[in-house]
Amino acid sequence: MAQQEDVFKKIVAHAKEYGFVFQSSEIYDGLAAVYDYGQNGVELKNNIKRYWWDAMTLLHENIVGIDSAIFMHPTIWKASGHVDAFNDPLIDNRDSKKRYRADVLIEDQIAKYEDKINKEVAKAAKRFGESFDEAMFRQTNPRVLEHQAKRDALHQRYSDAMNANDLAELKQIIVDEGIVCPISGTKNWTDVRQFNLMFKTEMGSTADGSMTVYLRPETAQGIFVNYLNVQKTGRMRLPFGIAQIGKAFRNEIVARQFIFRMREFEQMEMQFFVRPGEELKWFKQWKEWRLKWHKALGLGDQKYRYHDHEKLAHYANAATDIEFLMPFGFKEVEGIHSRTNFDLSQHEKFSGKNIKYFDPELNESYVPYVIETSIGVDRMFLSVLCSSYEEQALENGEKRVVLHLPEALAPVKCAVMPLVRKDGLPDKAREIVNELKFDFATHYDEKDSIGKRYRRQDAIGTPFCITVDHQTLDDNTVTLRERDSMEQTRVNVADLHKLIHDRVSLTSLLRKLG
Ligand code: GAP
Repeated sequence: MAQQEDVFKKIVAHAKEYGFVFQSSEIYDGLAAVYDYGQNGVELKNNIKRYWWDAMTLLHENIVGIDSAIFMHPTIWKASGHVDAFNDPLIDNRDSKKRYRADVLIEDQIAKYEDKINKEVAKAAKRFGESFDEAMFRQTNPRVLEHQAKRDALHQRYSDAMNANDLAELKQIIVDEGIVCPISGTKNWTDVRQFNLMFKTEMGSTADGSMTVYLRPETAQGIFVNYLNVQKTGRMRLPFGIAQIGKAFRNEIVARQFIFRMREFEQMEMQFFVRPGEELKWFKQWKEWRLKWHKALGLGDQKYRYHDHEKLAHYANAATDIEFLMPFGFKEVEGIHSRTNFDLSQHEKFSGKNIKYFDPELNESYVPYVIETSIGVDRMFLSVLCSSYEEQALENGEKRVVLHLPEALAPVKCAVMPLVRKDGLPDKAREIVNELKFDFATHYDEKDSIGKRYRRQDAIGTPFCITVDHQTLDDNTVTLRERDSMEQTRVNVADLHKLIHDRVSLTSLLRKLG
């Protein structure tokens, strides 16, 4: 685990050093949980968004996109339940003056019992060697059983308190478990309070006062309130979907793990409107389609798993997360929810407008049911970055850091390098750049030794390096070096475009989705 933490620290440092992600407002000592994307980060991010957008809108003729405003009428957030229930329970330590999420403190405590169990198992496995029967050990070892009993009891008490929204009980659990503040080391806790995660601001300035509006905490509501506009103007028939990519804002109390939990982030959401009664069929279908989208990137099938929700929100009748193996464990990257007709019905009630769909085949009107797929761009970015990063020891004793990014997502597709800065090689290299740059993000690099230039491109994940040498001037061939294998082949300049296109175009990725 400690080793994984080290790797994660290196990835964060690498993201900064190579222009992927910077701390926001860094010269003012930063703004917590807010990040900026640099020159390479923005390209990788745009490519991820393009992959998602094209997979939704090109491959499904019944899915269209929209781009709704971040500000919306405040009653939308009343209708959706966010004003009353989009809360985290928080607690302060009076000595350190630090604020924590009470649920996170308790979940960390549950994880400590889990750690203790795992340590006992690891110790025993070492002691007994090959003859070790882990299942038997877990069922019979008194210390393991004791930790398990404590963990299960705590888990039950915590779930009950959360479900009952019992804040006094959450505080009591923290006291009973003897949980201390990681900064002050004391148990001097305040009561637990609910904290709404939406950012508020004021709009307009009239004599009657301005209006309180919210920065949207999800993009989905912009889709719900536009569903009938799109259906009517696009003459859509059920089932159909609306996709949107955009910023969302949450005043997260505990912001951890770099860009995993941010206060300003981006979502890619799609609401799929279906006939009542058909929602579970479509939920199953979207579960499969979304995992296929992830796996097509080739980051490793074993790094994904579904986490089906046992406890469902009152408006959902099925929900699952797609989790990805980050250096800090399996974590949610995407949520797929069958949200019934809750949101649309609420908007009908709060707006007083009829937003039913008329189904010409059934000759009746109803409020459609909705399957939602919701993925965080930044979390997707983090999963791609983490699984691509490798420190490689080379045969010649040197080391290189390489990002094995999916080629279609790489910020730079190819770098063109004259071997030396004379004899007309730079001009020839520029000529090649001027051919390729219309279709591919192409770098020209003539500084430093060729080895150093290759390393720089490896570090940002450029799939191809093209080297122009003296032979190029004679026979119009160059060396094409591949990032992952480092293999170099001699190819004709006229063939470059096709060779690169076949590997780096999004089309090749989209084709895998069928
Ligand atoms: N409309 C449904 C919805 O917003 P969610 O599970 O709260 O559901 C969906 O969020 C996705 O948005 C998550 O799976 C995650 O990828 C991303 N996300 C949520 N909160 C985030 C945060 N604070 N920072 C970065 N990404 C976040």
